[in-house]
Amino acid sequence: MDEPVRDQYEAYPYPARDPKDEGQRLIVGSPSNLAEIDHYLFAGRGNFAKPFRALVAGGGTGDAAIMLAQQLSDRARERSHGAHREGAHGEGAPGEEAPGEVVYLDLAQAAREIAEARARERGLTNISFHRGSLLELSKLGLGNFDYIDCCGVLHHLEDPPAGLAALAEALQAAGGMGLMLYAPFGRGGVYPAQAMLRDLGEGLALAERVGLARRLLAALPATNWLTRNPFLSDHKQSDAELVDLLLHARDRAYTVEQAAALVTDAGLRLVSFIEPARYEPASYLKDPVLLKRLLGLDPLARAAFAEKLAGNIKRHVFYVVKASNRTDSVARAESPGAVPVTRELPGPELARAVTKGGRIAAEFDGLPVSFALPRLAAPILARVDGKASLGEIHAALQALDSGLDWNAFKAQFDRLHAALGGLNHLLLRCPGDGGGAASG
Ligand SMILES: C[S@@+](CC[C@H](N)C(=O)[O-])C[C@H]1O[C@@H](n2cnc3c(N)ncnc32)[C@H](O)[C@@H]1O
Repeated sequence: MDEPVRDQYEAYPYPARDPKDEGQRLIVGSPSNLAEIDHYLFAGRGNFAKPFRALVAGGGTGDAAIMLAQQLSDRARERSHGAHREGAHGEGAPGEEAPGEVVYLDLAQAAREIAEARARERGLTNISFHRGSLLELSKLGLGNFDYIDCCGVLHHLEDPPAGLAALAEALQAAGGMGLMLYAPFGRGGVYPAQAMLRDLGEGLALAERVGLARRLLAALPATNWLTRNPFLSDHKQSDAELVDLLLHARDRAYTVEQAAALVTDAGLRLVSFIEPARYEPASYLKDPVLLKRLLGLDPLARAAFAEKLAGNIKRHVFYVVKASNRTDSVARAESPGAVPVTRELPGPELARAVTKGGRIAAEFDGLPVSFALPRLAAPILARVDGKASLGEIHAALQALDSGLDWNAFKAQFDRLHAALGGLNHLLLRCPGDGGGAASG
């Protein structure tokens, strides 16, 4: 059943990666960025030391497994240094802490070899590599997981609900998953092109079909939907990307509603789409009459509306937990101990990006957007370093303006967090709030 898909990824491991590049850069993305996992799935209280276990199901050439294993190692090193510093003050200096464990699983040996070579280049020792199908998870004896990444895989299965059910069964009761499924509207042009290439390539080997696809792409008329969709450029990067986009053995796309139904039917609960602002109609619409008409819609209906409205969402990235897990898994800025953290862009850089008019600009796959920020956005962001708590940032700003009480500061932070959280720039850690989630 899995053979056509496996053979494709044996011939064209995806995405195309050269292990030597590991010395130059770490590829980061969503889902499975550790700060995001902590924010959306463990209420900011994740303890990612062993026995924390993550599964990367259909790991391909390793992007998520490498990112996660590297971030877990970095986090363990930071913890050890922190503990060591405390030890210097008389509490005893412990040794290097063990990072959590990443389990990589894929059908394709060729993909696994590249992922393994990348881990070796980085000296990562916290990944174990396995070949097999996620549909067979219960037989593989890999155990249960606090976190599961499954990106770009379920939509290639003959029976995606069976795949998600197999993952859900391997998930710890309080664990969570980061998933990615293709989305139809932003992939405008892909499915007609796939159909043409099926007609052209009937009976030919995959390598020959790649050649035909390149010829067809060069000859597409200006009116073809793929030509008209400049934001879909994956196929221009390499043969592996071209095969994945246009010559796939099996692929389907999910609307917001269909993705949500897949999740619910597997006994899971959708926590958030990433980036949240892309799934909010108000990010695109300013007309008050239209916005008022949408006020009564629940978050899922708003997300479905936003998907149709934007028309350029190519894939849905989202986090889920078990439906039986009724606790709020998202970090909230409820106490002064909460620590704001940024992803790739440091706080001071975000502070400099605030315009004179108090806005922040972003781009959603070719669509320029901008969001209003509160008055104190830049001074707050300038102090966000992943260590300072909200209480400390408030104290620093109060030293400049004695009238800034906690409630006034908190109102400013909440507005900032709503805007920048929507763009996935600003997340939270809540280290003091009970601690110990995620295998703590
Ligand atoms: C599009 S690639 C995605 C790779 C990786 N997750 C990423 O996002 O970069 C899909 C991967 O899923 C693997 N795959 C497909 N079906 C699978 C299955 N039933 N069990 C495990 N892996 C599977 C393929 O071999 C391939 O490497």
